[in-house]
Amino acid sequence: MRVLFIGDVVGSLGRQTVTDYLPKLKKVYRPQVTILNGENAAAGRGITEKIYKKFLQDGVDVVTLGNHTWDNRAIFEFIDDAKKMIRPANFPEAAPGKGIVYVKVNAIELAVINLQARSFMVDIDDPFKKAEQLVDEARKRTPFIFVDFHGETTSEKQAMGWYLDGRVSAVVGTHTHVQTNDARILPKGTAYLSDVGMTGPYDGILGMKREAIIEKFLTALPQRFEVVEQGRSILSACIIEIDEQTGKAKSIQPIQISEDRPFTE
Ligand SMILES: [Fe+2]
Ligand SMILES: [Fe+2]
Repeated sequence: MRVLFIGDVVGSLGRQTVTDYLPKLKKVYRPQVTILNGENAAAGRGITEKIYKKFLQDGVDVVTLGNHTWDNRAIFEFIDDAKKMIRPANFPEAAPGKGIVYVKVNAIELAVINLQARSFMVDIDDPFKKAEQLVDEARKRTPFIFVDFHGETTSEKQAMGWYLDGRVSAVVGTHTHVQTNDARILPKGTAYLSDVGMTGPYDGILGMKREAIIEKFLTALPQRFEVVEQGRSILSACIIEIDEQTGKAKSIQPIQISEDRPFTE
């Protein structure tokens, strides 16, 4: 089974990049499941129902989220009906939505789990404890389990990778918007990548207009951050091949498409 995962899609440029490249990626890599992190899809903050539906139309099977889940208030109106969208599972119990979803691939099922880290982030429920609980639950149904671990620090993400090694097919990180160069298969068969990177503006700072961000570093004064809506874009993703007998990962390949690294079909 091949799974394509696209990292944090930022704003309209990011969405357009998905529309432009997803058909080409599907042609070359032939994934059975496509997952995308959509936490920044609506102008950098959150997601709307219209955007969620467009992702599905473009060929995305599951949308994951992160710390920006609640930024666009439209989320509260459709999160409970969006069957193919998950938010970090370790938000407190009372939060709407869910953090795990199962996707059917012929006769087998892939469980997709979204978790959020806590280092330098909001202090929500323990992601490790939640992972343990959800993985135990998922493994009763299927050995094919994919985890999007949304977090700031590489240490917490590595810890999650090693913690779940051999129990899930893949742990990939999102949130930093910068792809790391550490894709590997851990000894017990879990594919790991600290961060997949972002999809959207190539010439901003993490997708936002540079001026306000630089100003903030120069002055430490509050600034309004705005998403870059025009110009060059980058797509960051990874493709994971999972053994159909065991659920263990066979390979993980990071993907980046930009003017500097053009896509070759
Ligand atoms: Fe993000
Ligand atoms: Fe994030």
